Amino acid sequence: REEGLFYGLDLGGTNFRVLRVQLGGIEKHVVNRESREVSIPPQLMSGSSSELFGFIASELAKFVADEEKCANVLSNGKKRELGFTFSFPVKQRSVASGTLVKWTKAFSIDDAVGEDVVAELQTAMEKQGLDMHVAALINDAVGTLAGARYYDRDVVAGVIFGTGTNAAYVEKANSIPKWEGELPNSGDMVINMEWGNFCSSHLPVTEYDRELDKESLNPGEQIYEKLMSGMYLGEIVRRVLLKMSLQSSIFGNIDHTKLKTHFLLRTPHISAMHHDETPDLKIVAEKLEENLEITGTSLETRKLVVEICDIVARRAARLAAAGLAGILKKLGRDGNAQEQRSVIAIDGGLFEHYTKFRECLEITLGELLAEYASKSVAVKHADDGSGIGAALIAASQSQYRNVE
Ligand code: BGC
Repeated sequence: REEGLFYGLDLGGTNFRVLRVQLGGIEKHVVNRESREVSIPPQLMSGSSSELFGFIASELAKFVADEEKCANVLSNGKKRELGFTFSFPVKQRSVASGTLVKWTKAFSIDDAVGEDVVAELQTAMEKQGLDMHVAALINDAVGTLAGARYYDRDVVAGVIFGTGTNAAYVEKANSIPKWEGELPNSGDMVINMEWGNFCSSHLPVTEYDRELDKESLNPGEQIYEKLMSGMYLGEIVRRVLLKMSLQSSIFGNIDHTKLKTHFLLRTPHISAMHHDETPDLKIVAEKLEENLEITGTSLETRKLVVEICDIVARRAARLAAAGLAGILKKLGRDGNAQEQRSVIAIDGGLFEHYTKFRECLEITLGELLAEYASKSVAVKHADDGSGIGAALIAASQSQYRNVE
């Protein structure tokens, strides 16, 4: 039913995105959407809270300024409304506020921990003279679920396989012991699992993972995420290659400076090597040279590199599929011959761009769930699900909603 113009702001990876969505109500759904992606200067990821939010607000102000020329949006004196997708663990007691529990992925800004991120953004926007109201604070997994369910009622979960990983699903409110308030009318409630922080002695953690964790920005945390998300897969492969190179002569007598540099080998690089179909593995040779200054490798060595990429990506995909199967099991949608369709909406660069990750995830789901083969369970790519979801949630929380 939601109608009107809404803004989205998406902060979670190495880029942030600003988004403008025109909602056309029940018939037309999303009439128009425009977005702009801005990369975050690395020093802002570990600076101060006011620097980060100041930068974001100034970019948002630029984006809004462009609209002024073409639209008659604020002719009715309303404030612009924003859905803020903030993809980090937050303690959230109301729809438009939440305090940051801890940073994950590549962020570490100490003075923001424990603070209300909506208030920080609101202050930064005011400093920019930007007249905008934050209508809702949303996690990207929740936004993906909302965006996908808007189009398809059979969507039961929203999942992110990107820089980080997380899942949100729809639970029966009366199955949530932690909930103390009144039960919602629908009887349902969304759970943001923050599953990236899952840890268990059953996880296949190796010496490479242990060292990666120890030297990370958040040791001891986000272990499931560190085994399978886009921020870390390249880094795991780098660590394996480094050890092999130090213990053997596979790369010849090389200078190890590059190979020793953390995060120099990124997941898009290992994806390119893993998908190399040239007979002499030309792309593998190129990536090794460009990123790690390793030259003159033999075909045999390049094959070995591909195999390492395969092992690391396959482990990630199988662990990811296990998480999805876990959600369906919890929902009782993994049983025999379901009448109901269950769809899991997935977003994130790893799922979108790393074909072999995605293929292996789907094959594994087939192994774990008979329903996947029978098509009563499906996964689908929710393209920009979280942006649309954020605008939708903002619209549903709009302060003007009841006035209209
Ligand atoms: C964060 C989650 C987020 C996920 C995907 C994790 O590191 O803790 O809140 O949903 O990344 O962006």
